[in-house]
Amino acid sequence: MNDRRPDVPVYRHHRHAGNFADIHKHVVLAWLVRALTRADGALCVLDTHAGDGLYRLDDERRANLASLRSDAGLPATLAPYLHVLDSLNGPSSLDVYPGSPWLVRALMGPDDALFLAESHPRAAAALSARFRDEPRVRVLERDGWEVLGQWQPAGYSRGLALLDPPYADARDYGIAPDALIDAARRRPDACYCLWYPLVDGCHEPMLKTLSAAFAGSALRAELWVEPLGRPGVMAGSGLFVVRPPAGLHEVLERLQPWLQAQLARAPGGGVRLVRAAHT
Ligand SMILES: C[S@@+](CC[C@H](N)C(=O)[O-])C[C@H]1O[C@@H](n2cnc3c(N)ncnc32)[C@H](O)[C@@H]1O
Repeated sequence: MNDRRPDVPVYRHHRHAGNFADIHKHVVLAWLVRALTRADGALCVLDTHAGDGLYRLDDERRANLASLRSDAGLPATLAPYLHVLDSLNGPSSLDVYPGSPWLVRALMGPDDALFLAESHPRAAAALSARFRDEPRVRVLERDGWEVLGQWQPAGYSRGLALLDPPYADARDYGIAPDALIDAARRRPDACYCLWYPLVDGCHEPMLKTLSAAFAGSALRAELWVEPLGRPGVMAGSGLFVVRPPAGLHEVLERLQPWLQAQLARAPGGGVRLVRAAHT
């Protein structure tokens, strides 16, 4: 498969593209798509906050990714993620970073479908342009929470939803758990992956609610690249995965410490991997 599309313009610079949180989120997302496309039957993926799809890498992010890609101890888990990165850039350059829509589209199978919700008109237009020749991809210029609330993909044996709100509006911390609990009840066979930043402990009440709601059926996976607690600084990245495919816990046990060591900005970082439980 060659996903290289040098003709596709990179729509606008995204200052976070390819940072440690993107790498954490996207490596796990790529693994989830691969795991869920291994069995028979079609997969339907929903990306509730899709973004632009492709981003220009700055020098710092390019250097981080290059050193990660060339590390001798690279875990095999990164293979699907790096496959997409290499297909897009070629094996020896790194100019463009694939966002979640591009990553999923590159990894899904011929019968799978991808729904992209994006409320920003310019980003939605960029997505529509990027995927205009892709009948398996549907772009919805809509509120991602609303789309999630109506998500009932008939005809697909498996479902995966990525919930990736920007949290620029603090209301996302309240909306996300309600929306996820509601969606998971309505679609009891789908896997859900919620991303959240580790900044000022803002995520803790949300995680308390989610851990109680999904006790025994979800994983909480976090890594932080510097000590937590510096006011206003995003020191880490978290993923709450509801109904994880078999093997994810074992994968994360190895992957997160390796990624953390690769991406550390300062001593005092760490990782956390726990099964959701009542606290
Ligand atoms: C962090 S970016 C998404 C990144 C993308 N999921 C990825 O991993 O490459 C967040 C995006 O959500 C969009 N957004 C913000 N609020 C939204 C909403 N309520 N519904 C849909 N999209 C929203 C923003 O315009 C932005 O493009």
